[in-house]
Amino acid sequence: MARTQTTYRNRSHYRYSRAQRLLHWTMALIILPALAIGLYCSYLGHTPEREFLMTIHKSLGMTALALLVLRIPVRAYRGEPDWQEKPHRHAHLASRLAHGILYALMLLMPVAGYITSAPRAVTSPGSASSTGRT
Ligand code: HEM
Ligand code: HEM
Repeated sequence: MARTQTTYRNRSHYRYSRAQRLLHWTMALIILPALAIGLYCSYLGHTPEREFLMTIHKSLGMTALALLVLRIPVRAYRGEPDWQEKPHRHAHLASRLAHGILYALMLLMPVAGYITSAPRAVTSPGSASSTGRT
């Protein structure tokens, strides 16, 4: 029993924390459909289907942004797991760079989406939303 606990504790050093894994997979489940819906909508005209799907797209995107606000401090606090075998310095640098780019994209995609869509939500005569754009 004691041995199992020690083994588990040792192994847990090599894994992202439970909170990090939960956030990673929850966000992947939100972002991938958001991405697919966004791309699909870009092929649609200004139809009611697009309007409906864009509402879902924006909700998914804003949810991802809210979770990112939680994820960044969790990542800063928990850091990355230990390596079982130390990778080459360049490989480690590449993995950190790739992860950094993914974090930047997770921030930039919803922020850019919000910035481009917020002005259209202003319902003044002649504004984009009054002409049916969402
Ligand atoms: C929206 C999609 C995704 C995003 C934005 C994303 C982002 C990330 C980020 C930023 C990390 C590094 C974690 C950190 O350092 O805090 C990571 C790790 C990881 N991701 Fe994803 N991920 C996505 C989807 C996926 C999918 C679909 C898979 C598998 C099929 C996957 C597998 C992994 C694995 C195995 C790791 C751990 C890598 C390691 O050992 O350091 N991810 N992901
Ligand atoms: C995880 C977050 C998000 C991802 C991955 C994402 C991805 C995408 C993609 C791939 C497109 C299609 C781009 C194109 O046709 O060139 C798109 C379009 C769009 N997104 Fe997002 N998006 C995200 C969040 C948001 C948010 C939060 C909003 C607004 C609150 C938003 C608003 C829009 C709008 C208005 C368009 C349509 C632009 C147009 O065709 O006029 N997105 N998004």
